[in-house]
Amino acid sequence: MKICVIGTGYVGLVTGTCLAETGNTVICVDNDKSKILSLKNGVIPIYEPELEEFVKKNIKEKRLTFTTDIQEGVNPSQIIFICVSTPPRADGSADLSFVENVARSIALYMNEYKIIIDKSTVPVETGQRVEETIKRQLKDKNIEFDVVSNPEFLREGSAIHDSMKPDRIVIGVSSQKAADILTRLYEPFQAKIIITNIKSAEIIKHASNSFLATKISFINEVSRICELSGANIEEVALGMGLDPRIGRQFLQTGIGYGGSCFPKDVSAFIKISEELGYDFKILKAVEKVNAEQIEFFIKKIEKTLWIIKDKKITVWGLAFKPDTDDMRNAPSIQIIEALVKDGAEIHAYDPVAMEKARSVLPEDVVFHDDIYSSLQGSEALVIATEWEDFKNADLDRVMALMEQPIVVDGRNIFDPSLMKEKGFMYTSIGR
Ligand code: UDX
Repeated sequence: MKICVIGTGYVGLVTGTCLAETGNTVICVDNDKSKILSLKNGVIPIYEPELEEFVKKNIKEKRLTFTTDIQEGVNPSQIIFICVSTPPRADGSADLSFVENVARSIALYMNEYKIIIDKSTVPVETGQRVEETIKRQLKDKNIEFDVVSNPEFLREGSAIHDSMKPDRIVIGVSSQKAADILTRLYEPFQAKIIITNIKSAEIIKHASNSFLATKISFINEVSRICELSGANIEEVALGMGLDPRIGRQFLQTGIGYGGSCFPKDVSAFIKISEELGYDFKILKAVEKVNAEQIEFFIKKIEKTLWIIKDKKITVWGLAFKPDTDDMRNAPSIQIIEALVKDGAEIHAYDPVAMEKARSVLPEDVVFHDDIYSSLQGSEALVIATEWEDFKNADLDRVMALMEQPIVVDGRNIFDPSLMKEKGFMYTSIGR
């Protein structure tokens, strides 16, 4: 099939590439000229395992092309994906101006039947708005079209895997014709396909991310009770998670959720609920707990170190989670800013996010190219992201390099008894 993907951010680039991989002809559109130029040469602006190989392969096999000209993308394509960003506005609602602009442009260049798909995460009723916008823009041109909501569920760091082997594909439609075409498009992915109405599909996305965020805030609250009572959160999470009704995933306590999705989607879901006349009480608590969790961790560092001023502190892990270089809403930012404010000298290391981190962290942070050099003479090690490299670190070497063997672990990556045996003063979360 001929496909156009508008917006080459995380979602658009991965979606376009995976649809090319399954044999479609895909043209990706973005108004960022330098990004398109890089992509044409197979240079990927983000770190995402496997993505570069997939992009290069599909460019070479001529199934994947890039352009800045929206008309060039829309004209030949029967299916058009809207994958532009929907950033949060100051009041927490989603800014849909990019979606509206793209809908207008699509209408301008529509020449025959098209399926227009909202893949960006949007509040319920956006599909209806997109349809109205296109109808208005088409004026008296009599061209048939269908608007579809087909949310993505890909996680950064495993985006290709999640897209190629999805656990479900949700297609929100109002016409059988569009449902049939999209069922054919997604056949090669061999996943469970759920056909719903457009509004249900939109809510499935917001509710899924909000539920996962709720699980995280819940386990973070339980971890506080574990600390206060002397229980161990890892044992508690295991004991809970083995109940298939609860499940093991997303019960990892830590320093709260970050990234480009959960914070934005939870607040947008609260906001759209409010607009619809409902006060989403649980989600407000989820947000509050998440904000408090990071503050609690910063206090833990301060309590452990007593005086922060002039201390050399190493921070391992800058990205909001492992296997990505994404710094959006990364807890490391808030931790480092607080420590710098208290007068600490920060030495930082991350396997891939340092380039992006430089532009968002305070300028006196010292970045190290090597995990161990970041520890030389350090008076404390703070762990903010659970990269595999950190879990596999040579602890004897860590001990030898540090001035004071203090480790404050926000991700529970080490076994407390092993750390004690090695002579570290080790603090983690909820145990
Ligand atoms: C999320 C959803 O998982 C994905 O389905 C959606 O389409 C986009 O948003 P992503 O933001 O890439 O994906 O990361 P995810 O792996 O879900 O982690 C989100 C945040 O939750 C991270 O900050 C992570 O550290 C935190 N987290 C996750 C926990 O604190 N504990 C957990 O058990 C799991």
